[in-house]
Amino acid sequence: EKLFTYDQGLTSTALCESSITYIDGDQGILLHRGYPIDELALRKSYLDVAYLLLNGELPNTEELDAFKKEISSHYMVNEQFTRLFQGFRRDSHPMAVMCAASSALAAFYHDILEDSQKSRDKTAIRLLAKMPTLAAMCYKYSIGRPFMYPQNNLSYAGNFLYMMFATPCEPYVVNPVLERAMDRIFTLHADHEQNASTSSVRSVASSGPNPFACIAAGIASLWGPAHGGANEACIKMLEEIGTVDRIPEFIARAKDKNDPFRLMGFGHRVYKNYDPRAKVMRETCHEVLKELGVTTPLLEVAMELERIALSDPYFIERKLYPNVDFYSGIILQAIGIPTSMFTVIFALARTVGWIANWKEMCEESLKIVRPRQIYTGYTERHIDK
Ligand code: CMC
Repeated sequence: EKLFTYDQGLTSTALCESSITYIDGDQGILLHRGYPIDELALRKSYLDVAYLLLNGELPNTEELDAFKKEISSHYMVNEQFTRLFQGFRRDSHPMAVMCAASSALAAFYHDILEDSQKSRDKTAIRLLAKMPTLAAMCYKYSIGRPFMYPQNNLSYAGNFLYMMFATPCEPYVVNPVLERAMDRIFTLHADHEQNASTSSVRSVASSGPNPFACIAAGIASLWGPAHGGANEACIKMLEEIGTVDRIPEFIARAKDKNDPFRLMGFGHRVYKNYDPRAKVMRETCHEVLKELGVTTPLLEVAMELERIALSDPYFIERKLYPNVDFYSGIILQAIGIPTSMFTVIFALARTVGWIANWKEMCEESLKIVRPRQIYTGYTERHIDK
């Protein structure tokens, strides 16, 4: 029998060719269509970056305006979605609800099966537009508050904050500091090459199903604590540590091979250097807390944890640095977003990366992803007479 190369976790197997995102993990470099992530996060909006990922170039003013207008014209979801939400327990994990809601979109849009550039672009627009609406509906449903309809006059991040925090009882004014921070969090999570969720979307898409269903697969993969769920796990860990004096105890646990505990928000499959997204996230975290006048012991714990870990031989030898999720939870918490919604925010931001990969794949010839295995079971045997 032909022998296959065993590459557990696909650490050295390229799944595809792609011109969207480049990562040099040793140098700590992340480029989208050639542009460094810090330049994009600090100087461009999420929708600029979304346009860039989907179309290959940054938009000019007219292109960006047209893109924004088209997205806002698709913000609403079919009113039937209110019934879908009502089918869930209020205390369901929002990621479980998001998986279901994105699959439900597949049931509403059949026209996308037409294989054309126009149809793919429309799918991208619909997904970008509807994910914030569905995410905010998840939150409102969990707290038993009325759903808030999207507001086309607000920015992408501003509209999301509105749908999350406005109520029908009083006017809601979007805080520009929080709006900018939210937009930056979206940008920093927009795409990241062939991570577990993006490669899941590609694998599922390779058999040609409805793209909204492919996105549901991405959401499921992102949910795990080793991937997008790390931001939720990280804030829980910082809360558990609680005070700076308890850090050594947790560092010792992270180093103990008999203890499954890991420092959440530390380490990365690809980055063996400081995650460039974490740098911008750390700056943004300081900015947000300063401008809001918020003090939280969690930031102090996070900074001290980072300092101690980065000078410890265990972390140095294994090149374990803070990743994008280390500081994002502190910002989200300051904004007022509950911990269970953190991974949902990641999912809505990453949706554009998933669709950009899906589009790229459709524009090439589709080859079904069908890996082989190394069989370790019985050799042929027979049922006793
Ligand atoms: N705390 C303590 N030790 C760690 C950690 C950590 N966070 N991460 C890795 N290690 C150790 C691990 O025990 C192993 O040690 P040894 O060589 O002695 O057995 C070594 O470092 C290599 O670890 P690995 O598990 O082989 O590395 P990986 O590339 O398979 O895993 C990872 C990458 C991100 C899953 C892992 O670092 C981890 O679990 N980190 C915590 C969770 C986390 O923050 N995830 C978010 C990733 S970034 C956001 C995203 O892209 O979704």
